[in-house]
Amino acid sequence: MIKSWEYKNEYNYLKNNILKTIDKVLKSGNLFFGNELEKFEKNFLKTNKSKYGVAVGSGTDAIYLSLKALNIGKNDEVITVANTAIPTVAAIINTGASVKFIDVGNDYLIDINKIEKSITKKTKAIIPVHLYGQSCEMDKILKIGKKYNIRIIEDCAQAQGATYKGKKIGTLGVTGCFSFYPTKILGSYGDGGFVTTNNRSLYLKIRRLRFYGMEQMNSRKWWNKKYFAVENGTNSRLSEIQAAILNIKIKYLNTFIKKRKKIAKMYDKGITNSKIIKPHVNKNNEHVYHLYVVASKNRDSILKIMKKNKIELGIQYPYPIHKMLAYKDSTYTKLKNTENFSKQIFSLPIYPTLEKVKIKKIIKIINKI
Ligand SMILES: Cc1ncc(COP(=O)(O)O)c(C=O)c1O
Repeated sequence: MIKSWEYKNEYNYLKNNILKTIDKVLKSGNLFFGNELEKFEKNFLKTNKSKYGVAVGSGTDAIYLSLKALNIGKNDEVITVANTAIPTVAAIINTGASVKFIDVGNDYLIDINKIEKSITKKTKAIIPVHLYGQSCEMDKILKIGKKYNIRIIEDCAQAQGATYKGKKIGTLGVTGCFSFYPTKILGSYGDGGFVTTNNRSLYLKIRRLRFYGMEQMNSRKWWNKKYFAVENGTNSRLSEIQAAILNIKIKYLNTFIKKRKKIAKMYDKGITNSKIIKPHVNKNNEHVYHLYVVASKNRDSILKIMKKNKIELGIQYPYPIHKMLAYKDSTYTKLKNTENFSKQIFSLPIYPTLEKVKIKKIIKIINKI
């Protein structure tokens, strides 16, 4: 079976280092807020070129805490897309704010021409989702944000390392929200997330919010005042073990991205079947291919044939969020593309350790369909 994603080959390759680092953490006696976290926060900020940043428990929390830190909640509205992962929306709803969905363009990203029409007095933030590894059209989104005094929170969960006009995503909005869920471009072996920002007071606030609202110092001196909450926070920590694993994996980030791009190039060149619509890459972007998403009106039969040939494909996502029971009360403008795409899109296996012979087999079979 060619899996749509797997991590065992990568783990075999990194195993010695990973087991050594876990052993070191466990022997250190520090399971949270230790040297590994401090090191990882520095490492991540260096690769992402942001001024400040806070590691948190998940990508969902990164979005939730960004919104909370900006005092967005009840009676506020947040604009985003329905062609995204559930957590983008769950994070908004969990603050008490409501969501307004707008449609996506042919690149599967927020349609910038639809944003202004959806803004109301209640709109406090826009969350552009850099889906599948490609940045949204940020210049236009930032311009709208400025014009209406609306905060732009970037959902970077699927686009670690991607750039827009040469700038790293996550440095453009008021915060950038990353996920280290194992399937992600920089994935840990558990949950994890990160908020980047160039705003110091926002950074300090999110650092408090992730740890029950207490002032934190650094790894050696946790609190200004132990067990004293300055404001109401939550628990959203990245453990030392996950931070240590990420400190190893971040060294390979550029190599991982290069491999993903190489595989995408093979698909781009190799797939000649006219029934398949290949990814649309915008000219200002460096696409890092978290997913290689194609579309076809014949999706169901393609999925069946590929399965018969022992090739697992993904569908991200089969249900647009506004069609889900949980979000039936959300407001939206007409989401024609989103609804059509949900019936047509599917993703081909793409991960750094995917072997060439397997890629060639996928291309061969898909061209024959
Ligand atoms: C677009 C998007 N946003 C947010 C998240 C949330 O990340 P996490 O799973 O780390 O909470 C994910 C990952 O599932 C995602 O794909």
